[in-house]
Amino acid sequence: MATVNSQPCVLTVFGAGGDLTHRKIVPAVYNLFLDGDLPPTFALIGVDRVQMNDQQFRDHLREGVDQFSRRGATKTDEWNAFAARVNYLDADFKDAKAFGRLADLLSARDKESATPTEHVFYLATSPTMIELIARQLVQAKLMGDVVRQRLVVEKPFGRDLSSAETLNQSLTGLLKEKQIYRIDHYMGKETVQNILAFRFANSVFEPIWNRRYIDHVQITVAEAVGVEHRGGYYDRSGAVRDMLQSHLLRVMTLVAMEPPVSFKADEVRNKTVDVLRAIRPIAPEDVDRCAVRGQYGAGKIDTENVVAYRAEPDVDPNSATETYAAVKLQVDNWRWQGVPFYLRTGKRMKRRVSEIVAQFRPVPHRSFPDSAVPTWQPNRLTIGIQPDEAIVLTFQAKLPGSVMELRPVDMRFSYREAFNVPVPEAYETLLLEVMRGDATLFMRADQVEIAWAVVQPILDRWAQTPPAEFPNYASGSWGPAAANTLLDHEEDKWHDPVTAPASVPEPAS
Ligand code: BG6
Repeated sequence: MATVNSQPCVLTVFGAGGDLTHRKIVPAVYNLFLDGDLPPTFALIGVDRVQMNDQQFRDHLREGVDQFSRRGATKTDEWNAFAARVNYLDADFKDAKAFGRLADLLSARDKESATPTEHVFYLATSPTMIELIARQLVQAKLMGDVVRQRLVVEKPFGRDLSSAETLNQSLTGLLKEKQIYRIDHYMGKETVQNILAFRFANSVFEPIWNRRYIDHVQITVAEAVGVEHRGGYYDRSGAVRDMLQSHLLRVMTLVAMEPPVSFKADEVRNKTVDVLRAIRPIAPEDVDRCAVRGQYGAGKIDTENVVAYRAEPDVDPNSATETYAAVKLQVDNWRWQGVPFYLRTGKRMKRRVSEIVAQFRPVPHRSFPDSAVPTWQPNRLTIGIQPDEAIVLTFQAKLPGSVMELRPVDMRFSYREAFNVPVPEAYETLLLEVMRGDATLFMRADQVEIAWAVVQPILDRWAQTPPAEFPNYASGSWGPAAANTLLDHEEDKWHDPVTAPASVPEPAS
């Protein structure tokens, strides 16, 4: 979606000494630089409490780029050209004078260019700092230009409905909504955006994309990693807050939304809000039927033995936090009435794979004898988001031979094979969009709040009823057995991923 931006731009990153800046933001900015996608006049200012000078900051960033960039290690000449645009400001976010220094630095940069500069302030900080920094920026008169001055806010945006509402109220009290860019990095993934292209740039799928033809939809975001070094944060969050409320609901809205009239930010966002509003609220007494939680025990990922969640660093040894969540949602509108959407996500699952499966209704009458179709299955359309970006249509075909026997076969489109070009990281796309001032891929206040409202009954119920049997799935499995009880029909099960097959054949799970 993004195109090269020519307006001068200064990107100021708060939390510049932190992990997100190191692993994601700066490697993404650097790739934009190498691709020639940054404006000719661009500067990056890092702000944090850690004491560093410009050179130390640049060296720290370079390590991150070397380690985490999709392009691998930096080349010195290229890096030096980029690093010359990078400065560091050590500042306590509570100190108003520090924001005065930032304002001076920005105005010095502005004077270097004849055209007005875009100012992007990126909050890669703890969520507790969001309001404080926004307030300081306003007081330092750095947010007065509603067209050119923007604030990027990372997830988690609140930790429940009421805290998200409070945060929205304070931010919208300080800034105009159009200045606030709430990030959900899944929206920057190529394949997530391709859902829109697939649905709305082709005429063959749209007529069957509804309750008449689709039986149910499954959305899986499985991770093989555990909580890594984020045990402290994760133990206060869990899978619903960390993944379901944001990434999975976002993906679901793109699968379920009505065609937008245009790709203007509010037009697309209105359509996704319509989906969220149509999700049937889960009554407290229904939570146990509509949602399943899990926590990983010790196990094996590939050949590596891994510890249980409760044995991870910074995690409470008696933690009741869920590392897996599965939920069944119903969408009460004309298109989707009666079509369940099953969403599941978990850490330490068998392998990393994100997929959407639309399972079509069975044929109305099976004219073939049962003996012809031992492996009969309904048609499915699978959209692989990661690690393999692919679209697979599964249908029945006749097995070659003189007797009539049917087998499911796959028709496969692979991004990598079709385009054979490097795929930008989600953060590259999103940073470019925010520099261009296009908010289509970012969350509006109401989108975030309604998404919290969808999961709030689950959060409440689970907080009131501690889990009896955690851990309830082994690391390296597909999650707790209880998740199968969510599916409506006995013959339905969570699909084995087809876009990211295991490197070695797996025993049936
Ligand atoms: C983040 C979550 O938002 O998304 C992490 O906080 C999770 O817990 C990550 O690992 C997954 O992102 P991706 O792009 O690797 O699927």
